[in-house]
Amino acid sequence: RGSNGVRHFLDLSEIPAGELRRVIDLSKDLKARRRAGEADRPLAGKTLAMVFDKPSTRTRVSFDLAMRQLGGETLMLTGAEMQLGRGESIADTARVLSRFVDAIMIRILDHDLLMELARNATVPVINGLTRVSHPCQVMADVLTFEEHKGAIAGRTVAWTGDTNNVLASWVHAAQRFEFALRVATPKALSPRQALRDFVKKTRADVTFTTDPEAAVEGADCVTTDTWVSMGDKETEKRHNLLKPYQVNRALMARAAPGAIFMHCLPAHRGEEVTDEVMDGPQSVVFDEAENRLHAQKGILAWCFGTPAV
Ligand code: CP
Ligand code: NVA
Repeated sequence: RGSNGVRHFLDLSEIPAGELRRVIDLSKDLKARRRAGEADRPLAGKTLAMVFDKPSTRTRVSFDLAMRQLGGETLMLTGAEMQLGRGESIADTARVLSRFVDAIMIRILDHDLLMELARNATVPVINGLTRVSHPCQVMADVLTFEEHKGAIAGRTVAWTGDTNNVLASWVHAAQRFEFALRVATPKALSPRQALRDFVKKTRADVTFTTDPEAAVEGADCVTTDTWVSMGDKETEKRHNLLKPYQVNRALMARAAPGAIFMHCLPAHRGEEVTDEVMDGPQSVVFDEAENRLHAQKGILAWCFGTPAV
């Protein structure tokens, strides 16, 4: 929580497990109510500022619609068009935006800037992706897993590929939601120390390996992400290192029968995942994309403390 008791949504490792569970349950409930044609407007009169310093399709559309469907409004801002792009500090930007809007969602690569924004904002701040983590994505992923496979606690998820922001939030989620996470990454791209320390300190059921087949063996869900994240340099070396970590039919065959495949998208077909898997019967990637909308609603309702959360 922020200094004045506001509920920020910055990292899954910063929010108690019980609260995260409430957000998931709230997301499921809001999704069911929407499907039933009920139109609650608990955020009427509230405005969310969306600040994008980097491109986005899913995060932008889902937050915008989530806010509107809950009765609120959004303001779309891009870093380059703001005085932020001309050197106004993130702290002053936080103070100013807090006078105008009721919450701020930001996508910015520099995680320290996100934290500084949150420290200086007097309204909830939501992490819409930094170089370090992508917590909103993994909330949608937990929701998607549970819709397809039942409770995630005690189950096994396998990650194969690059070490990035999405993986970090998966690691936090494994600890918070009590599932096993098997991570396969090339040695040269192995998870940073802070993430390993988190696993050690919390005794999360997370194992790191360089062997994708070992990671995927018997898993209930296989997931991966792009080999080149925003801010990474696209190099031949990166591609060569990651080639053995591609999710293809042979790798999926090692997972448990009925295992699902997830990907936060955008996918680079033919690189981290083949068409066969993306479009195959085990893929739930578009349910996962849709669930960004329902998960954002749960996150927004939680941040605003409404309805009665
Ligand atoms: N998965 C995800 O965050 O997608 P966008 O970059 O399109 O928002
Ligand atoms: N790891 C990717 C996720 C995009 C949603 C990136 O940071 O570019």
